[in-house]
Amino acid sequence: MNPHDLGPFSPDTICHGDALDLLPLLPPESVDLIVTDPPFAIDFRAQKMNYNRTGSRVIEGYREVPPGEYGAFSAMWMKEAFRVLSPRGSLYVFSGWNRLKEVLCGLDEAGFSTINHLIWKYQFGVFTKKKYVTSHYHILFAVKDPGNYVFHKVEHYPEDVWVINREYWKGKKKTPTKLPCQLVRKILSFSSSPGDLVLDPFLGSGTVAAVSREMGRHFLGFEVVDEYYRFALERLEECGSAGARERDGSGGRTEHAEGEN
Ligand SMILES: C[S@@+](CC[C@H](N)C(=O)[O-])C[C@H]1O[C@@H](n2cnc3c(N)ncnc32)[C@H](O)[C@@H]1O
Repeated sequence: MNPHDLGPFSPDTICHGDALDLLPLLPPESVDLIVTDPPFAIDFRAQKMNYNRTGSRVIEGYREVPPGEYGAFSAMWMKEAFRVLSPRGSLYVFSGWNRLKEVLCGLDEAGFSTINHLIWKYQFGVFTKKKYVTSHYHILFAVKDPGNYVFHKVEHYPEDVWVINREYWKGKKKTPTKLPCQLVRKILSFSSSPGDLVLDPFLGSGTVAAVSREMGRHFLGFEVVDEYYRFALERLEECGSAGARERDGSGGRTEHAEGEN
């Protein structure tokens, strides 16, 4: 029996819908870890961002947040993230440097304590003519209770700069912002235990869910763009089987309900 009561959701499923609508449906303190890479609120051009890739293979439709609304957007989802996180739980949120201010303010306002400001250094930033090439990301590691949170010290000397290459997907359709699995594995190793429930409210291609499954964690994911949701679903089905729920305006219906491993 699974100990996680997720209200209208089932563990090990992904849902097609807006995180701002779905997060409030989760019961308080129901998830152990949140790992998420929210939309960036930049003038994002999905196909140009993909180095060495065939543009036509990149799935379009990525949902952005207008820059002027990013502070309010961050505050809204982070407040819900704080509510649904278990007392010893953690949030890892990714941010580019240009929206870092809003992300840091959102964390403070929601009540989180920021424990580390990690830097993810990747290869192949986008070519620039008159400024430095950005080849890093910020990852804020924040907790509810700085006096009592899960942290498995799986490395003797875990530094706060992580050099991890982006992955190259060959031959198949791809989404423009996929996180490397190695990066997500590292986060899950330090901040979760087998059987924990890991949530990603901005799922994209489904990396956090796929790695959670691989590492024996339960997962729940939300994605607003239908094509991305379907891509993530296929990916999860390839690496096991996943239940998926599609919510509609009338309160939700089960669209796919595969067996769970
Ligand atoms: C940066 S990407 C996540 C990439 C993901 N970590 C991966 O490895 O593929 C952010 C995702 O959030 C989705 N998104 C944007 N606004 C959303 C919302 N309000 N609710 C749910 N998903 C949203 C976008 O469509 C996009 O797929």
